[in-house]
Order: sequence, then C-alpha cells, then structure tokens
Amino acid sequence: MKEQIEELLEEIKDLKAETIQDVENIRIRLLGKKGSVTRLFADFREILPEQKKEFGKMLNHLKTEAAEKIEELRSSVEEHSGDDKGNLDLTRPGDEFELGTRHPISITREEIISIFTRFGYGVAEGPEIEDDWHVFGALNFPPEHPARDMQDTFFISQGEDPLLLRTHTSSVQIRAMEKMKLPIRIICPGRVFRNEAISARAHCIFHQVEGLYIDKNVTFADLKQALASFAKEMFGDDTRIRMRPSYFPFTEPSAEVDVSCNLCHGKGCNVCKGTGWLEILGCGMVDPNVLEASGIDPKEYSGFAFGMGIERIAMLKWQVNDLRHYFENDVRFLREFEKVI
Ligand code: DAH
Repeated sequence: MKEQIEELLEEIKDLKAETIQDVENIRIRLLGKKGSVTRLFADFREILPEQKKEFGKMLNHLKTEAAEKIEELRSSVEEHSGDDKGNLDLTRPGDEFELGTRHPISITREEIISIFTRFGYGVAEGPEIEDDWHVFGALNFPPEHPARDMQDTFFISQGEDPLLLRTHTSSVQIRAMEKMKLPIRIICPGRVFRNEAISARAHCIFHQVEGLYIDKNVTFADLKQALASFAKEMFGDDTRIRMRPSYFPFTEPSAEVDVSCNLCHGKGCNVCKGTGWLEILGCGMVDPNVLEASGIDPKEYSGFAFGMGIERIAMLKWQVNDLRHYFENDVRFLREFEKVI
C-alpha cells in the first residue's frame, strides 16, 4: 500500500490538463467512486490495527494532494481559457466603464458664465488669499465693520496688513478696476471663505459669482434689465424678479433681488415659504467711494455690481435642501446630475 501511495503522489505531481474536461477526468480517475485514491481508502479497512495510524496519515496526505492539484489545474485552465486557445468571445459585451459626472456647482457656475458671456461679459479671476484693502478697505467697509471681525474672516497672518481668505468675490471688482481699461464688464466666479459653523444653510467654503459693469451713464435700469434677463435664462422664460431696498457698504443704492418661485410660479409653496419669491442675490450701483478708491472718476463713470452664491442658485434650481450635500461627494447625490450634463 505504501508503494501505491508513493506512486500516486508522483503521478499527481506531473498531472497536466488543457481543458476543463481533462480536469474532470482526472478528478474521476483519482477521487471518483472508483478512483484510485478512493479505492485505497476502501483497502484501508483491511489493514492491521497497529498500522492504521501510519497509513491513515499517508492516505489523508494523498487525498489533500490530489484535491489541491485538481483545484490548481482547474483554475489554471479557467484562467487561460478563452484567450490563446482561440475561443475568445468577441461578441461578449465589454465591462462597463463608469463615467463620472460633473459636480452640480460646476454645472451651475458654467451655466452662469455662459449666460453672462452671451450678454457680453468677460470672466475675471482674483486671488483667494487677499489683503484687507481688496476685501474690505477699497469696498468702503468702515474700519470697525463687523465683517472684518475674526468671527467672520479667516486670517492667515497678523500684523499691520494681515493676509486673509477672501470672504466674498467683490474683491475681484477692485482688482479689475485697478488694472483693466474702461469700460469694464466682467463676472468673477470663485471660492470664498467664512468662519461659519457648518449646517444645512451655511458652510465655511462656498462659491460666488460677482458681476461688475462700469461705463459712462450706466443706470439702475441697466442693472435691473441685466438681472431680469439673467433670471429668465437661468430659471425659465416666465421668471420675474423683484428688488427690495437693502444695504451694502460698496453700493448705493443697494438692493436684494428675488426671483418668482419656479415651483409654484408665485402662488406660494413650502420652497418659497408661501411668499412666491426666492432671494438670489445682492446688487446695487457702485458707491462713488469705491470708484474713487480704485482711481476711477465717479463724476465721469458710473456702474453697477451684483453678487450671488452659486450654491444658492443650484439649490433653487434643483431643490437641494441641504448645503452639505455639495461638499460630501456622496455619489448617490452626484449621480442625480448625470441627466443634467
Ligand atoms: N459681496 C456680497 C456678499 O458676499 C454680495 C454682493 C452684494 C455683491 C451686493 C455685490 C453687491 O457686488 O452689489 O454677500
């Protein structure tokens, strides 16, 4: 019996198979009902009790070797089947390649840019790390204005002229007025930073688009016209706007702009909280102090400015009720925008 076991072990080592059928034949030959290994187990019953221990061990070893070899042959045949064996299935559908989607904030930003470039606006950018002058001083913020406070602004250096993360894209207005030739007609999309606790309605990082138009004889009527046209392009042809008086240090007069609710068309629903209107942006005529601070003569030139939050516009457009969705990158949320692209 010992010899038979050893012979079989040798044979197993050299076994080869080309097809799954070969592997199956080997399995039957060794481990099938009448297989050689199975037969040895039958013979084992006749063995003298004192030899059982030794042969038992050898037989178990043989069985494991046989089973392992068969598995090894099976996986190697499976791995190689189909390619160099000439049975490659060219009709088999390919593995699906999952395309990513554009982020809703990018989609909205691109749409805003596309609308305003059609109106003749250029796109300007400015730094995210700014100084006090461009974020506050030149924009007519009084020295003690609360927006300058540590509570709202992330400072990244201290001292006389500290560096900070811009809290709004209005800073790009100043940079544009400093270096561009008049007339100026630009929008400035970008990221802004505020020291706010994160919630469904606030985040410490978000995106804005600033708009600026400076020329001779620019009036409030021009501002209203530009924003009404924008609202129609963005939210649909039947969208109306209304302006409410407001205050910003850098515009005079200032207004906040609402669009008619695109869900209930002004009737009142829970998105517009029954008012029929949704707030989308702040705007106004550029304050003469701001023009002067950037070296533009307010007697000769006038202009308007506006600023909107991209998250806010996207929320209204797609009824997203929690700002945090935009930053968590949950693919279930992002996939919702596959159809929009
Ligand atoms: N900078 C303002 C903010 O962050 C938005 C804004 C309001 C911009 C009125 C403007 C404007 O240009 O005229 O809240």
